[in-house]
Amino acid sequence: MAEVVIVESEAQAGEIASALIARLVHSKPNAVLGLATGSTPLSTWKALAARNLDLSKVRGFALDEYVGLPPGHPESYRAVIDREVVIPLHLTPEFIRVPADSGPLEFAGEEYENAIVDAGGIDLQILGIGVTGHIGFNEPGSSLASLTRVKTLTDQTRRDNARFFNSIDEVPTHCITQGLGTILRAKHLVLLAFGSAKAETLAKAVEGPVTASLPASVIQLHPNVTVITDEAAAARLQFADYYRAAWNSRLEWEKAD
Ligand code: F6R
Repeated sequence: MAEVVIVESEAQAGEIASALIARLVHSKPNAVLGLATGSTPLSTWKALAARNLDLSKVRGFALDEYVGLPPGHPESYRAVIDREVVIPLHLTPEFIRVPADSGPLEFAGEEYENAIVDAGGIDLQILGIGVTGHIGFNEPGSSLASLTRVKTLTDQTRRDNARFFNSIDEVPTHCITQGLGTILRAKHLVLLAFGSAKAETLAKAVEGPVTASLPASVIQLHPNVTVITDEAAAARLQFADYYRAAWNSRLEWEKAD
């Protein structure tokens, strides 16, 4: 079962997630991070920036990228990662990869997988969760063993992400995303979820059956998962009292800060 941490606010979640990253980087300065985009990880990047750590040796792999946006588009995940992660955290730009950032698209999935393996694998993968149950852009029906590849976005996800564009027509129909199998290979998964719109999906992901119909449920197959959620997103969790008790009775060595 995943460790589930229920907190009061996104800021508190960011503190906890950033403490996990800080502990990792302390023991491994060239740690490999998996980087989610979207709104969810912003409090983590903010809290991490406030720690003023030397992150110059950290390597990073974005979870996904849109296909079809013109190079340099401000909502491409390359641009978002640069703006929200690389610059504020003083990461070394050459160490941060985004899918399909080099070479032809048809070989980009395999190339990205090889690059992750060459880096020694992802140590800590930050994840958000979509209302459809996606992690990365693995929409319902994605193989639980899938690797980085091009996918079609659901209309729901395009509607959810239209807030970053002038209209839904500008939201790409395709993406390239780490697969669920790629995500499972990371050594530690940290999944964040905020707000009531995520409550039902989060409960299914954490406590429902493992199924490709709810791709985030694949986290149940991973031995080292931390789910950090606010009260609103935790509202449908059946075992919330147990999660709270487990978090409040952590042993000293289990605490990141
Ligand atoms: C982003 C990603 C997606 C988002 C998810 C939640 O790189 O892979 O899975 O994490 O769509 O998006 P937000 O955080 O904007 O609610």
